[in-house]
Amino acid sequence: MSGEVSFLKPNAINPATQPVLTDTLQASVNAKTDQVLALLKNASGELTNITFANSFGAEDMVLTDIILKNQLAIEIFSLDTGRLPVETYDLIAETEQRYHTKLNVLFPQAQAVEFYVKTNGINAFYESIELRKSCCHMRKVEPLQRALKGKNAWVTGMRAAQATTRSSLPVREFDESNGLEKFNPLSDWSEQEVWTYIRMHNVPYNKLHDQFYPSIGCAPCTRAIAMGEDIRAGRWWWEDPTSKECGLHVK
Ligand code: ADX
Ligand code: SF4
Repeated sequence: MSGEVSFLKPNAINPATQPVLTDTLQASVNAKTDQVLALLKNASGELTNITFANSFGAEDMVLTDIILKNQLAIEIFSLDTGRLPVETYDLIAETEQRYHTKLNVLFPQAQAVEFYVKTNGINAFYESIELRKSCCHMRKVEPLQRALKGKNAWVTGMRAAQATTRSSLPVREFDESNGLEKFNPLSDWSEQEVWTYIRMHNVPYNKLHDQFYPSIGCAPCTRAIAMGEDIRAGRWWWEDPTSKECGLHVK
């Protein structure tokens, strides 16, 4: 299955990642940044054992910058599915260098991956929604459950405007399926505000974003989008938009 969109030039730069930094936009991003910082500071005053799920997407790089620069009492973890794009690994290394930190990366259970691949095939996720969801469960959801064990809250980089499945995303909610508080501090941010923050603070980001990949997951399940397409159109692009969640964020 090809992930290419034929009319995009391979090295075209995505204008969405190069916002014009007007004073108004910068002021609005500064105000929203203060709100995020206040929310996370309050959360870490109220609760112990908070952890941030960092996928290294643009939103998560904003939160990484805010958490690490302000030395907030929030741990950071990432799920390496084993199928990430090379650009994401490059960004993990760049992030460690930039912030002088070692990141906490969780992997799927090796035996579960071996069994799935032997039973279904290496790229079986293209064959049915069921096989796609079981791959996501094994490579993301089970490691997430390990990451959240013993935690009182987790933080995500989700935004309401990202998808129809996220349109009523609150800044704080109780995550019933995992049994802990969940914070989505960027819920009301626009894509333009995210990129304004990244440019203002010179935050490292995934180079695929410049090539029309607004949302990045595993390499075989992510493609570039065409002009005018929905920002999550490149994720599991062969599926209906209403099924495009991997199980990390269950209502
Ligand atoms: S997904 O559910 O479709 O994969 P998306 O890529 O939009 O999610 O990311 C939403 C949020 O889920 C991210 O901001 C991050 O908090 C968390 N997340 C997604 N993928 C990972 C990952 N590989 N490691 C850690 N957190 C992740
Ligand atoms: Fe598997 Fe694709 Fe889900 Fe990654 S996004 S875990 S490769 S189905």
